[in-house]
Amino acid sequence: MINIAIDGPAGAGKSTIAKRVSKELGYIYVDTGAMYRAMALYLLREGTPEDDMEAVSRTCLGADISLRYENGEQAVLLNGENVNGLIRTPEVSQMASKCSVNGDVRARLVELQQKLGREQNVVMDGRDIGTVVLPDAQVKIYLTADPRVRAERRYKEMLAKGEEADLDMIEKEIIERDHRDMTREISPLKKADDAVEVDTSHMNIEQVTETILGIIAERRGAQA
Ligand code: DC
Repeated sequence: MINIAIDGPAGAGKSTIAKRVSKELGYIYVDTGAMYRAMALYLLREGTPEDDMEAVSRTCLGADISLRYENGEQAVLLNGENVNGLIRTPEVSQMASKCSVNGDVRARLVELQQKLGREQNVVMDGRDIGTVVLPDAQVKIYLTADPRVRAERRYKEMLAKGEEADLDMIEKEIIERDHRDMTREISPLKKADDAVEVDTSHMNIEQVTETILGIIAERRGAQA
């Protein structure tokens, strides 16, 4: 199976790019952040205190998270319910980052992610894909962008959806989340030694997609 790993901080453009690249290659797109978000939604619904790691470890056992593909789109199921429309709020974002420091939460989701990578050609995005989930991925990309640029992208996305948004607040939340994701003990966000870093601060979506497809073709050519 061909596995392509895309890691990077919040708002670097991972999901937009991974979706395009997977479509172009005819591979399945696996958004692992959505799995942590579905878990966070479950913990919030259960009223689990975010800083009580024992409670998080215990409660996470009640969440059965799976993926389904409908017309090429990934749907995340939480105990059978499609929760795609409920997991993009700031509250769920912060809880996802907080609960993802928990080893029991990670073990459950990593197992599912590895199974998908064994069974299908995937483009998988997240924080620890190249380092932990798919260490043997044929191609690894580390996508970054300046925090202000990432905040501006999220801000525009929210305005486009008719949501209220505060640019400074979004930037503050992104920086806070990056810090937690990069400094946690288990599987922190970091560039894999064999990943190619792409800074998207001054690139548009088409340019990033072309760059990544170029890197994939080059790496795969070298491996053939
Ligand atoms: O990519 P995202 O913003 O949807 O991810 C939400 C949170 O989930 C992120 O702040 C950290 C966590 N996460 C993780 O720890 N490992 C992954 N592979 C993907 C996401």
